[in-house]
Amino acid sequence: MAEISLKVNGETFTVECDPATPLLYVLRNQLNLVGAKLGCSLEQCGACAVLVDGEHALSCVRAASEFEGAEITTIEGLAEGDRLSALQQAFIEEGAAQCGYCTAGLLVAATALLEKNSEPDDREIRGALQDHLCRCGSHLRVLKAIDRVIHRVA
Ligand code: FES
Ligand code: FES
Repeated sequence: MAEISLKVNGETFTVECDPATPLLYVLRNQLNLVGAKLGCSLEQCGACAVLVDGEHALSCVRAASEFEGAEITTIEGLAEGDRLSALQQAFIEEGAAQCGYCTAGLLVAATALLEKNSEPDDREIRGALQDHLCRCGSHLRVLKAIDRVIHRVA
């Protein structure tokens, strides 16, 4: 066991764990941030995605200790207080989730994309989301939600 320090959603946490523990387990089991999900556990589905220094990153395999010193943002950190991000709001407006298991990962992926490029084209959007699986088939509604934000549909 070791003590590691993680900065998550603007707060610094010290946790005790095996340093090889995947980040996702620390987020969910020790920090009670359960938005990111364990899907495949093999970096194949996207359900566990978080932002690391603003970049999309999968958290189910890489050790939590690798993320010391980085700014980690989970889906819980995308809202500002009670105000959802524009993308979160658009997902609601478009009903862009069914069971919701993939939704945090998709929101994180789309957030990372829009923070770099506020007007991505269709190819760029599909490229950013292509590694995110959704067994419920919500992708078309996710694309509509992203389009809503790009075109600032009220
Ligand atoms: S749980 Fe991490 S990519 Fe599937
Ligand atoms: S909404 Fe169910 S897996 Fe995507």
